[in-house]
Amino acid sequence: MTGVAFLLNGTPVRLGETSPTRTLLQYLREDRGLTGTKEGCNEGDCGACTVIVTDKHGPRALNACILFLPQLHGKAVRTVEAIAAPDGTLHPVQQAMVDHHGSQCGFCTPGFIASMAAAHAQGRKDHDVVLAGNLCRCTGYAPIIRAAEAAESQPLPAWMEDDRAFILAQISSGIRGQTAPGAFRPETTDELADWYAAHPEATLVAGATDVGLWVTKQLRDLPQVAFLNGIAEMQRIEAQGDFIRIGAGVTLTDLRAAMAGPHPAFAAMLTRYASEQVRNAATIGGNIANGSPIGDGPPALIALGATLHLRGGTARREMALEDFFLDYRKQDRQPGEFVEAITIPATAPGLRVWKLSKRFDQDISAVLGAFNLTVAGGAITGARIAFGGMAGIPKRATAMEAALIGQPFTRAAFEAARAAAAQDFTPLSDMRASAAYRLETAGNMALRYWHEASGAGVDVLEVRA
Ligand code: FAD
Ligand code: FES
Ligand code: FES
Repeated sequence: MTGVAFLLNGTPVRLGETSPTRTLLQYLREDRGLTGTKEGCNEGDCGACTVIVTDKHGPRALNACILFLPQLHGKAVRTVEAIAAPDGTLHPVQQAMVDHHGSQCGFCTPGFIASMAAAHAQGRKDHDVVLAGNLCRCTGYAPIIRAAEAAESQPLPAWMEDDRAFILAQISSGIRGQTAPGAFRPETTDELADWYAAHPEATLVAGATDVGLWVTKQLRDLPQVAFLNGIAEMQRIEAQGDFIRIGAGVTLTDLRAAMAGPHPAFAAMLTRYASEQVRNAATIGGNIANGSPIGDGPPALIALGATLHLRGGTARREMALEDFFLDYRKQDRQPGEFVEAITIPATAPGLRVWKLSKRFDQDISAVLGAFNLTVAGGAITGARIAFGGMAGIPKRATAMEAALIGQPFTRAAFEAARAAAAQDFTPLSDMRASAAYRLETAGNMALRYWHEASGAGVDVLEVRA
């Protein structure tokens, strides 16, 4: 049976023929009159459209403006209209926003309430991180953060439990594969491989944090699409001896959590990747496959020595991740071939990853540097260094590496690596940074590595006047 089925504010919804690129925000506001969920930017930046989506991973905040309806199949959606109890009793975060004067003009408020209620259900206390993707121009944030803190100790209201208790199979029963004309929703990699081999011109949609904007901003038609978020095997992170295998469908949220133990510097950088709502949707496979020279995942993964696993039909091949990026927006991917997974080493204690952007939160990198050094007996025995924002592709800094390898671990070696950045890169000037800024800061990151190893505070959050 064709269609999409999900739970909306506690009530099952089954949609038959629907455009596969109709967004949840359009559906809520235009088809259902649920106008509490606001449209601000329509590109994932402001959080005014935040809703709570619950699936087997639990409740998460997502931006409805770049969420296509088929991505919701088998899930539960809760909008701001259903965060209070049916009898009107406010949710603890709503009551706290009233008590702490967390709303002025109020346009942003529904999105804040949805983000705060999702975080409350998850027992989160990192409110700065949770709310970095919700923009407010009136309150100055302090009252909102105070409200989130005040609600922390309140129990989860009974009515918010309903979405967890829903029976996925009941909602989605009978609907499998085809979600709409021209849209396929595989549930295994074999199904995807067969279908994509037969439809190599189709668009793959993982988290839609890029593809969503092709539709909402570039007004592109996507006649044939495959939605990957029903493929559980592509969402796994598995320990494999000395390596970790990460499925292409793993979200940035799940990747960030999984990296906190083995690669804390990578995890810390991922906290500054977009926002909570975008990380909850975006996948590492999409971040690699889109080939952006300013994507945050690839430089860190290249520095780690990641192997990319591609699949086309029944054929599989693998390559060093850096070899995938051929030229600006040109990757070594054949028609009908998709990213299945990446593998990275389970340990890399010398890994450091630094993101420079104009704004601390929710901003695209001007420069992203990843340094993976090994040191033995006081000498640098290995160096893998990669940058984003410095060339048309995520690229290794081979001259910087050569300046370090074999040298004693001294400031002089890192000064030499700093100087070598100019041999590796001829960056561009654009709205994010000038060429001179990029070159200087990329080189300076070598010195940053030295300073951090020497015990100095090098993060903006560690520096005190
Ligand atoms: P999608 O949008 O679904 O797909 C992206 C591309 O990859 C498409 O061409 C799609 O066909 C293809 N694709 C997806 N999965 C596969 C696969 N398995 N095999 C082959 N092809 C595939 N990026 C950053 O790096 N850092 C940021 O800070 C950042 N901030 C952002 C902020 C906002 C507000 C938004 C909207 C985006 C931001 N991005 C950022 C970009 C975006 O989040 C990433 O590129 C993301 O990882 C894309 O993943 P996705 O799953 O959403 O991909
Ligand atoms: Fe701005 Fe959706 S409307 S994030
Ligand atoms: Fe006006 Fe937040 S209260 S934008």
